[in-house]
Amino acid sequence: MTTFHLPFDRTAGIPIHRQIYEGFRRAILDGLLRPGQRVPSTRALAVELEVSRLPVLTAYDQLLHEGYLTGRVGSGTFVSDALPDDLLRSPEPAGTSRTQPRGMSRPLPRPRDEGGLGPFRMSLPALDQFPHALWARLVARHAHALTHAQMAYGDPAGLVPLRVAIAEHLRAARAVRCEAEQVLIVSGSQAALRLATAVLLSRGDRVAVEEPGYPGARAALSAGGAELVTVPVDDQGMNVPALRALGAKVRVAYVTPSHQYPLGTSMTAGRRFALLDWAFRRDAWVLEDDYDSEYRYVSRPLGALQGMDPHQRVVYIGTFSKVLFPAVRVGYLVVPPALWDRFVEAREALDLFSPTLYQLALAEFLREGHFARHLRRMRGVYLARRDALLSGLARHCGDHLTVHNADAGLHMALRLTSGRSDVEVVRRMAQRGLTATALSSCYAGATRRSGLLLGFGGSTERRLLDATGTLGQVLRDTGGPR
Ligand SMILES: Cc1ncc(COP(=O)(O)O)c(C=O)c1O
Repeated sequence: MTTFHLPFDRTAGIPIHRQIYEGFRRAILDGLLRPGQRVPSTRALAVELEVSRLPVLTAYDQLLHEGYLTGRVGSGTFVSDALPDDLLRSPEPAGTSRTQPRGMSRPLPRPRDEGGLGPFRMSLPALDQFPHALWARLVARHAHALTHAQMAYGDPAGLVPLRVAIAEHLRAARAVRCEAEQVLIVSGSQAALRLATAVLLSRGDRVAVEEPGYPGARAALSAGGAELVTVPVDDQGMNVPALRALGAKVRVAYVTPSHQYPLGTSMTAGRRFALLDWAFRRDAWVLEDDYDSEYRYVSRPLGALQGMDPHQRVVYIGTFSKVLFPAVRVGYLVVPPALWDRFVEAREALDLFSPTLYQLALAEFLREGHFARHLRRMRGVYLARRDALLSGLARHCGDHLTVHNADAGLHMALRLTSGRSDVEVVRRMAQRGLTATALSSCYAGATRRSGLLLGFGGSTERRLLDATGTLGQVLRDTGGPR
């Protein structure tokens, strides 16, 4: 129960019980106190107002009697659920206004969940395979042992043991050239992008993004004030000659070189060197979003672009959203030393630091080898899920879809063969409980390819196989060209 702000003035010459009664009545009529809401006990309110309990009891008696409050034996006093309408329409005393009419007490809006957890939902890891019990033990242990220092304000750069563990992992698994001193903990990639725009861009600067590309990144970059320009992606990754042609106002290029979002292409070595050369010559920066590179099924994972750059022009972004779960909201940047102070300063200005408890639990999760074990195990899980999806698609949808790329990550991109509208197909899929994404929604410009993005990380093999059967029906029902 929250404390209640009751206008109260012991010098006003109005009896105390009257002020308490009026204060509650007004707050209920104005919607500041809502039906069903618990109000303070008479004892607690008397203490809060520094008055004896008697006037409080008198006021509560009257409010109960008139039906504003209701008492539930043993569980306290609440605003009545069934306030007579005429009470709520009582005339306004002069000079007061109803800031929150009672109509405002409508149910809370449904959370934004982009279609829920249906099969094919993008960006979801295998939540059913996460080691919950182990994670819960780590979080509980650290919650019990929190010191006063850990409960106070933390380092904007993040917890040192976590930064050390991340740097170790990135050097070994991703060939990122970094020290813990360059690792900055943030609340996911989205926050990392906001931070990068704040540090790297001045008024009028442009950011080049992939076309098609990740809508989340576009949203974060433009919300940070960046003017976006698109550069086409082909089967080698971002088209660097086209980037060069955009001129000097482009100060930053955002890329997903290991596993292009959404098409799944891996940027070739030639394009990588060309991109790094562009950044070096133009004194520009590359934002490398390495969101799901841990999972590659056809060959060894490629090293990060950052590790190939002799000139330190790459700001590397990673996240635990895919390797653990999105709600953990922990991501990180590897920042070139020349930019470090500015990044930390901007981070502090933005939201100070990330929650310490999760950082402590995560540091131990990495340090004790649980993370490496989890990654190894999940590669097998995702490979099986990917194969189940491919075989289901071949069986049920072969005539309507061609797989563009399924070599890596937690989703695959497919082309629709007969020129159907992907938006329409996705809408019909949603009616059947399937949560796909239209490829065309990842384009900013007018030329859009029609296709489907199907996530497979978050669904079991059985569920994926069943879902491809339903998808086959949807595609047959949707029929002909646009
Ligand atoms: C390209 C890309 N980057 C980053 C992310 C993860 O973002 P975050 O760390 O904010 O959860 C996603 C998730 O869908 C993604 O698709």
